[in-house]
Formats: sequence, structure tokens, C-alpha cells
Amino acid sequence: MVEARTEAASEGKIAPLPNHVAIIMDGNGRWAEKRGLPRLLGHRAGTDNMRLIVDALELYKVRFLTLYAFSTENWRRPDLEVSGLLRILAAMIERETMALHEKGVKLGHLGKVTSLSEELQGKIHNAIELTKDNTGMTLNIAFDYGGRDEILEAVKRIIKDKVPPEDITEALFSRYLYTADVPDPDLIIRTGGEMRMSNFLIWQAAYSEFYSTPTLWPDFNEKELKKALVAYSQRERRFGGLKAEGEA
Ligand code: IPE
Ligand code: IPE
Ligand code: MG
Repeated sequence: MVEARTEAASEGKIAPLPNHVAIIMDGNGRWAEKRGLPRLLGHRAGTDNMRLIVDALELYKVRFLTLYAFSTENWRRPDLEVSGLLRILAAMIERETMALHEKGVKLGHLGKVTSLSEELQGKIHNAIELTKDNTGMTLNIAFDYGGRDEILEAVKRIIKDKVPPEDITEALFSRYLYTADVPDPDLIIRTGGEMRMSNFLIWQAAYSEFYSTPTLWPDFNEKELKKALVAYSQRERRFGGLKAEGEA
């Protein structure tokens, strides 16, 4: 993993590259409204864009990608939009899983499944099972995901497991989250211009670099992605300490 990152870096382009990129894919609705189209067509265009960005990040040898597709608060939207989003997710799993599997991508889901139909739960389960031994990029889709929900679920399971309070460390707590096997995101990109987290990875983002762009998600292409990665490479991450020794 470290080797792959060094190799990309030594190509002389962008270094360091993030190991885990997480994206708040916002702006689908506005993209459609600007064109006088129904919002759902924006969501469809946004879904198509996911493939482009997955492929691009694979070229940069990014090992983990997390895409925020539907929040626990998005159920508040009109029924028609919610049911459309669920249909689009189901269709995306049908359409993309085999191709992702062939590329060695390991699929994961962050969030609750209990509010989803049994059919959709089955599709998610099958896609995860099919790809579980793959060794390429890990692609997590956050769907019916909320950071506060994730934390409460972790607390409930810790209590159920009767974990003694003195054993509750940050490392143990992290293992109870949906992201148990996933390192914290290095870079969080938000499209659509807002400067907020909207309940995304609120525990894991403690020291993530945040990048927001006004570009709407369906328009976020390889060039926009490169800009985000360049911005990341120029950040100085201190994690509360001082500048690394030897740096200017
Ligand atoms: C993001 O796009 C996708 C979801 C939240 C499901 P939006 O639907 O929030 O698009 P805008 O913010 O209204 O443009
Ligand atoms: C965040 O976008 C959630 C996703 C992109 C899935 P929202 O459009 O729901 O966020 P707010 O409501 O503007 O904070
Ligand atoms: Mg939005």
C-alpha cells in the first residue's frame, strides 16, 4: 500500500496522495433544476458519475473510497424522491457490481439496512459477499447512513457486550462503528458548495482534510478531482502536534 502510494508520488505528479477519500456527493437536485429537469434525473446523472470517479481514483491508487449517497435525514424528502433514490440504488447495484468485481473492487455498505426492502437488502448483501475477497480498492457506499446513528448503534452494542468502562478506548470504539475495517478518511470532498458535514463520518473525520467545491456532483469530473488531490497534497497535517521536523 505504501509502495503504491510512493510509486504514484514518484510519477512526479501529486504527493502525498490520500489513502482514503470520502465524498459527500451533493448538488444532484440543483444540477437537474438548472436544466429544467426533474430532480431524479439529477440523481441518475450523479450515479453515472460515480463510475467515472471510481475509475479515476483507482488510477491514483487510492485504496479506500467512501461515497455518501443517502443520509438518515434524507428520508425527510418527498416520497417520490425517496422511492426514486432507492430504485436508482438498486439499479446501480445490478448494473455495476460485476464490472467492479472484475476490477477487484471490494464493496461495502455503511449504514442501516433495516429500513430498506428485503429485496434491496438482498442485493446489497450479495454484492458484498461476491466481492469480499477482492484485494483492489475498497468502495463503501454510505446509504441510510448517519454519523450520530452510527455512534448510538456502537454504544448500544458495547453495552450489550458488557464491555468494562476501563476497556473503552478510541480504538475499541472505532471497531464498533460501521467503518470497523476502514482507516479514517484522509480527505473529505464535498461538492455542491456547502461547508458542512451533514452527519457524515463525524467520528472518523476528526483529523480529515476538508475540501469543498461549488461544482455540482454530476459535473465533478477527473479535472475537478485532480484539483482536490492537489489541494490535499499541499495541506500540512499536524494532528495537534507541531510541523514535522526538517520541514520549512
Ligand atoms: C445529493 O444531491 C444526493 C442526496 C442527498 C440524495 P441533492 O439531492 O442533495 O442535491 P441538491 O443539494 O438539492 O442540489
Ligand atoms: C448530504 O447532502 C447527504 C448526501 C450527499 C447523501 P444533503 O443535501 O442531504 O445535505 P444538507 O441537507 O444540505 O445538509
Ligand atoms: Mg443537497
